Amino acid sequence: MSFKILVHMVCFGILLSLAVFRYVATELATDVVVIVGDVKFHLHKFPLLSKSARLQKLIATTTTDEQSDDDEIRIPDIPGGPPAFEICAKFCYGMAVTLNAYNVVAVRCAAEYLEMYESIESGNLVYKMEVFLNSSVLRSWKDSIIVLQTTRSFYPWSEDVKLDVRCLESIALKAAMDPARVDWSYTYNRRKLLPPEMNNNSVPRDWWVEDLAELSIDLFKRVVSTIRRKGGVLPEVIGEALEVYAAKRIPGFMIQNDDNDDEEDVMEQRSLLETLVSMLPSEKQSVSCGFLIKLLKSSVSFECGEEERKELSRRIGEKLEEANVGDLLIRAPEGGETVYDIDIVETLIDEFVTQTEKRDELDCSDDINDSSKANVAKLIDGYLAEISRIETNLSTTKFITIAEKVSTFPRQSHDGVYRAIDMFLKVMSALKCIGFMSFETKVLIF
Ligand SMILES: *[C@@H]1O[C@H](CO)[C@@H](O)[C@H](O)[C@H]1NC(C)=O
Ligand SMILES: *[C@@H]1O[C@H](CO)[C@@H](O)[C@H](O)[C@H]1NC(C)=O
Ligand SMILES: *[C@@H]1O[C@H](CO)[C@@H](O)[C@H](O)[C@H]1NC(C)=O
Ligand SMILES: *[C@@H]1O[C@H](CO)[C@@H](O)[C@H](O)[C@H]1NC(C)=O
Repeated sequence: MSFKILVHMVCFGILLSLAVFRYVATELATDVVVIVGDVKFHLHKFPLLSKSARLQKLIATTTTDEQSDDDEIRIPDIPGGPPAFEICAKFCYGMAVTLNAYNVVAVRCAAEYLEMYESIESGNLVYKMEVFLNSSVLRSWKDSIIVLQTTRSFYPWSEDVKLDVRCLESIALKAAMDPARVDWSYTYNRRKLLPPEMNNNSVPRDWWVEDLAELSIDLFKRVVSTIRRKGGVLPEVIGEALEVYAAKRIPGFMIQNDDNDDEEDVMEQRSLLETLVSMLPSEKQSVSCGFLIKLLKSSVSFECGEEERKELSRRIGEKLEEANVGDLLIRAPEGGETVYDIDIVETLIDEFVTQTEKRDELDCSDDINDSSKANVAKLIDGYLAEISRIETNLSTTKFITIAEKVSTFPRQSHDGVYRAIDMFLKVMSALKCIGFMSFETKVLIF
């Protein structure tokens, strides 16, 4: 009988009923019952035993089914269960089986379990599956990702046959490839976000990041660390991958939302965020300040650990000059005195100051780089004006503390400071608070 592997990349495999086996077996009575979970397969010993070493061993210690006199073999723990066993059995009978990216792991692991090796018969299923994996599945970008996802359900079998590692290698190899050589399909929905002059039909260097956002966080982490280990991908593109992943996986990452009340979800999101923070490439240019601030905002609302927030504050401090006022409007945890978290902004300014000082020391040159300080001064002036307008509980001391932190920074003009103070006073008088302010406070402000 001839054996044929039909490859359908998109269909979900086929499940023929047991009737098929009965049908092919009409000429010859079945002599063995293979029980997988709660499914009984009435089959013939000869085709099965000639290809499966494990079934050979099991038949030696078998019991007999009282009703039919057939030998009974139980394999409750075969990976992939009845559907995978069915494909293996059909292979033994020389029938055509349908393999694709969705069932290849199950069948490969089941063949391993049944010990369908070359030592029993040449051209056996394990070998055929290896050929199929090497020559088709792992060569395809999207199939490699699908296969990697399915390996999770087949631990430890899929690990034993190194399927997870091979998928990771295949994916990392493709991600690091020169985009000019990418000739397979990939998901890219961000082209419209690009400025028109960059919007041509050539393959962008970050072509691979959206498809990886389909992966669970543990697999995503493994893929990204494999890509980094192999090299050949710029840290900025890794940063891009993290940003796309976060936007897809963290609810309210793009927009602020307060309704995360399911405790289990919150725990999951928290651990996801903490993992993403641990994956940030150390290169300063790898991620934008806006992305870091979004991570920080989420880590505040999901109550992540102190360590992650510290790390994020440090990273933001490195490049605070790139932020805009909207980035700094970070919601405070609920139940606090203020709607916005002003302390966190204070921390960020402190980080910026510390790191600028450190950089200046390292630089040794007396030529202090004033442009980033000037940008931060402008940013904070704008922030103070805005926060005065929208935060009704902003205390005078807080306002002054923050204003003072940037008071020595160089400025092209002091308009921003005056606008902030003006706004603060307007709001205060609107709230009729100004009369209660002490003389000293008024003097300090002016
Ligand atoms: C499949 O690829 C792996 C790793 O590259 C190799 O070790 C193995 O021999 C290949 N198997 C077949 C049947 O081509
Ligand atoms: C297409 O745009 C990329 C930048 O996104 C640029 O590097 C590349 O040279 C452009 N290709 C052509 C043919 O204009
Ligand atoms: C302002 O602070 C007071 C307590 O000092 C608090 O009761 C009130 O809810 C706060 N207002 C807002 C808008 O947070
Ligand atoms: C100051 O820093 C900016 C950006 O951080 C850079 O473009 C500029 O060249 C630097 N100037 C000096 C004098 O180092």
